[in-house]
Amino acid sequence: MPGELSPIDKAKFVAAKRAAQFVEDGMRVGLGTGSTAAWLVRCLGEMVREDGLKFRGVPTSTRTAQLAREVGIEVISLDEAKWLDITIDGADEFDGDLNLVKGGGGALLQEKIVATASDQMVVIADAAKEVEHLGAFPLPVEVIPFGWQTTRALLEETLISVDVLGRDVTLRMNGDAAFVTDEGNYILDLHLGRIGNPRQLALVLNQLPGVVENGLFIDICDSVVVGYGNGRVDVRDINSGTVETERLDFVENDNLFSDLDD
Ligand code: A5P
Repeated sequence: MPGELSPIDKAKFVAAKRAAQFVEDGMRVGLGTGSTAAWLVRCLGEMVREDGLKFRGVPTSTRTAQLAREVGIEVISLDEAKWLDITIDGADEFDGDLNLVKGGGGALLQEKIVATASDQMVVIADAAKEVEHLGAFPLPVEVIPFGWQTTRALLEETLISVDVLGRDVTLRMNGDAAFVTDEGNYILDLHLGRIGNPRQLALVLNQLPGVVENGLFIDICDSVVVGYGNGRVDVRDINSGTVETERLDFVENDNLFSDLDD
């Protein structure tokens, strides 16, 4: 029930609820991954069921695909959609230029492909995700399993010559085994502390053999919908430079607030 949500969950919910209003009939919509994106999918499912909204969704993970189908959203592949009107996704960090760190949920590869294939990308986040400098959240890098330890060594060596504070690189685990992405790859988390030049780092990382993609989203995000625990929502558009503030009410709805485990 909404009254039992933590302030962070309320913030994620109102951001998702506001961003759902960007979706219009006939659109092809990229659906992000993570707890905030799960709220979005729930909100959109409700709009499909209650208001007759008609759109097709391209999920960025098997988790999101499953949830989208469960709530009644028509799911298509990116190849079927070819190009998207909008992608709405969460983020682990965003800065003042709306550059992002993503991949905390391990879905960064599909998320970046889908967001890049969209007319606009909207990030939904609670206010705690905003940072002055990216890098406090460990930067996920997706690598192929073959030779992953060699790739890690290469990454560590590369980090010596870039502007970062920390250089630890750890293999993401799922219990006792390596975490495996939807594409069958591993994730190496880079504990950098602070990233001085995100644009340069993103380019450098993707030049290393074994690296499939990194979690830095540079010049991809167009706007961010920031939610607060008291229901306040800010919509910031990087292109127009505008910020709109409003307040959303929490409306009790058993369907929307039950069984959300993401
Ligand atoms: C998934 O791989 C990530 O990019 C998520 O978008 C990110 O981790 C945000 O997740 P939450 O919405 O759960 O904080």
